Amino acid sequence: MKILVVGRGGREHSIIKNLKKNRQLDKIYAAPGNAGIEADAACIPIDEMNIEELVSFAKEAAVDLTIVGPENPLNAGITNRFQQENLAIFAPTQEAALLEGSKSFAKDFMKKYNIPTASYDVFQDAAEAKKRIAETGAPIVIKADGLAAGKGVIVAMTEEEAVQAIDDMLVDKAFAQAGSTVVIEEYLEGAEFSLMAFVHQDKVYPMMAARDHKRAFDNDQGPNTGGMGAFAPIPDLTEEAYQFSVEQILEKAAAGMMEEGRPFTGILYAGLMMTSNGPKVIEFNTRFGDPETQVVLPLLKNDLAQVMQDVLAEKDPNLEWHEEACVGVVLASNGYPGSYRKGNPLPQFENNEDIYIIHAGTKKAEGGLVSDGGRVLLVGGRAETLPQAADKVYQQLDKAELNGNFFYRSDIAK
Ligand code: AMP
Ligand code: GLY
Repeated sequence: MKILVVGRGGREHSIIKNLKKNRQLDKIYAAPGNAGIEADAACIPIDEMNIEELVSFAKEAAVDLTIVGPENPLNAGITNRFQQENLAIFAPTQEAALLEGSKSFAKDFMKKYNIPTASYDVFQDAAEAKKRIAETGAPIVIKADGLAAGKGVIVAMTEEEAVQAIDDMLVDKAFAQAGSTVVIEEYLEGAEFSLMAFVHQDKVYPMMAARDHKRAFDNDQGPNTGGMGAFAPIPDLTEEAYQFSVEQILEKAAAGMMEEGRPFTGILYAGLMMTSNGPKVIEFNTRFGDPETQVVLPLLKNDLAQVMQDVLAEKDPNLEWHEEACVGVVLASNGYPGSYRKGNPLPQFENNEDIYIIHAGTKKAEGGLVSDGGRVLLVGGRAETLPQAADKVYQQLDKAELNGNFFYRSDIAK
């Protein structure tokens, strides 16, 4: 069997590590991959947005299954093109990917199908939006409608911040077209968790829940990032809240998408807030979360390719989980999520059974691997309990030679 994984980050590296561990595959290709992925797969220099070249490659190489990591190719219709060519792909169509691609679509959809989420209104006019902010007051949340690489959400603790966000998006067009429509929504309080599932039409096979840490610094201080670490499972998530999220959120969403004539196939991700009134949706993503994937997939016993093939063939994949815990801590370049230097030599880490290194922004240079992004790599640890897994990770990180080039959060899963 030959598999193509589209993407270049830690999430894709983690997918490839699962594939490699579980089965004798003839070939795993990554397009374009990264320097760490090169050790585990054949990297093909095709950009994830170059859909026509990806189609040609999949045909020429006789790829049996394609897995897509990032959201942008999904919204550009990669799945539709692969399906037109009768190429197997486990990913949503452009029509179904709108659940992540447009926040106003997602909010209207949740309202229509009674899926619990923050109350909201949609605006294109700055004056109307500001009127709404004055009426509601702060805290309040402002979201760019379209894809903004995780940067389009402003949780405003004051009215001034909220008004500034409206000026940035609707007046100064900070997110161009993606921000020309905004969603203003109720501020939700509680603990966050992420729940992903394999979905095909109305069938939903949920994974273990995980928690992402989005702020740059310890104690959830500093700016939002793409994610500084994650862990799974979540001790404070009750079985009841988990079941509610599966039945009232994921299953309702899958059924609703069928009703809408946008049947969903792929990974459905719900970002959830555990409020005093039960779990509510913060956002839907139509793909694996990053960095949640890096702590969930190591706990999955099944072979990912087999799961996806089963789900596509309308068979129950019988998901099985290791009764263990994973913690992943991101090593980031100093300055991230602002500007930072690239090309710094990577520190050395042990590679033993319970420690795993997932690459995100790395590249080859003379003399070894160097950093090539804000989030450079993730040090993951697996153990019987969360504290043990966290200890393993921090033992590695605390003795690493960072030479003033990198930083990490010291409180992930603690
Ligand atoms: P998103 O990019 O949609 O995941 O949002 C980024 C972060 O903003 C989330 O992880 C939450 O911490 C926060 N957030 C988004 N929507 C809300 C909300 N309605 N209430 C409180 N916090 C929110
Ligand atoms: N971890 C959040 C996301 O993947 O969007």
